[in-house]
Amino acid sequence: MSAEERFDPISRVGAPDALGQAVRLRGWVQRSRSSGGILFLQIRDRTGLAQVTAKRDRIGDAAFDSAEHVQIEGTVEIRGSVAEDQRAPGGREVRADSVTVLSAGEPFPMFQEQTEEFLLDHRHLAIRSPELVSVFRVKAELLGAFRRFFERDDVLEITPPILTGNPAEGGAEAFEIDYFGRPGYLSQTAQLYLEAMIAPHERVYAITPSFRAEKSRTPRHLTEFQHLEGELAWTDLAGLMQFIERMVVDVLHDLAKRRPEELKRLGRAPEELRKIEAPFERLRYADAIEWLAGQGFPVTWGSDLGTAEERALTLTLERPLFLTHFPKEIKAFYMAQSPDDPRTVEAADLLAPEGYGEIVGASARETDIARLTERIRATGAPLEEYEWYLDLRRHGNVPHAGFGLGIERILRWVLRREHIRDTTPFPRTPARHTP
Ligand code: 4AD
Ligand code: MG
Repeated sequence: MSAEERFDPISRVGAPDALGQAVRLRGWVQRSRSSGGILFLQIRDRTGLAQVTAKRDRIGDAAFDSAEHVQIEGTVEIRGSVAEDQRAPGGREVRADSVTVLSAGEPFPMFQEQTEEFLLDHRHLAIRSPELVSVFRVKAELLGAFRRFFERDDVLEITPPILTGNPAEGGAEAFEIDYFGRPGYLSQTAQLYLEAMIAPHERVYAITPSFRAEKSRTPRHLTEFQHLEGELAWTDLAGLMQFIERMVVDVLHDLAKRRPEELKRLGRAPEELRKIEAPFERLRYADAIEWLAGQGFPVTWGSDLGTAEERALTLTLERPLFLTHFPKEIKAFYMAQSPDDPRTVEAADLLAPEGYGEIVGASARETDIARLTERIRATGAPLEEYEWYLDLRRHGNVPHAGFGLGIERILRWVLRREHIRDTTPFPRTPARHTP
């Protein structure tokens, strides 16, 4: 018999037909109290929580003495039967016939009011908190929802490299590594590889870690984040925005359907997500600048918009907003020049509502090889490094467009977390790459 078959999931205790039945459980002790020869344990596994009562005269002195000394987060195995108890969570308890201590453990350090630094230093233990347990279940569901959407929409998942020979999103923010004596970089974006993959597959996506050596400490920047990127052949900016809004709505509705309890526990009513529908509003950069200037922000045409400006633009919104047609000087080299205005590019950022700001960066790609070459030159990067990318314009060049979405960024908004680090189990920031 395999180890898996011998134990009941703790959720079994609450099952309608479990009353009076024998169960065999194992899990982590969350709470422990003993009085007058009775030990009350609350134990946890991935499926739930149960209250266990163990009597000294039932389980024996030796077992009782050892069970009494189990620390919080120690592990135990219980055999017993399910009984009604109005005071227990869920109205049930397990009356133990035997308690076996698997690991008594040492005193768990996570209890008293702890500073933020202490909690981050002990992140490997803090991830057991009910709040973080819920966050990472929602995150897994979110990743699944994106994959289900792409599967239904016939977009192929691909696996681009993380070790790369050129920094694709701006050299200053690339982590440089020593690649056997030559410079290498941790990927900032898989975009150029996705663009290569559309010739044979037309519609592709990838979910990979991306790295940004941004020193700025903000509540929305990580140095390592999960990057969902998509690239579609035969599409322009308008078509891409329709795809993105359909994807975001689909994924939010899926999440609301599959994880309502966790969402509620984390402060987001599932109905709020269900209410979000396409189309999202589109606002041109030029109009945003005019509005912001009117609100007293020190911006003029050509200014890059920061956290404060994005916050002002989205604070009172209930749906995301597309900001479009930025000046080319503040955007990446690969973005297509607008057909009706050579000063702007066919780009859109999707801003989350309630002040959370950018969650997606998207654009139609420059297909004109002369203009593209000029834009690469203007970045100051050696052109040789981009020869392979220019080859994509020489062989089977088609209109195409794509986007990158920060998984932790969208999760931060959906779960209303104050800091992006609370959307990832082991956050990487300028100050920290351990534990
Ligand atoms: O806007 P970005 O820099 O766009 C690109 O990298 C494109 N090459 C993507 C593409 O078209 N394939 O990054 C895309 C998204 C941002 O909108 C943001 O959500 C997230 O990635 N992001 C970060 N998330 C957390 N921490 C950071 N430091 C991030 N930098 C970008
Ligand atoms: Mg961006």
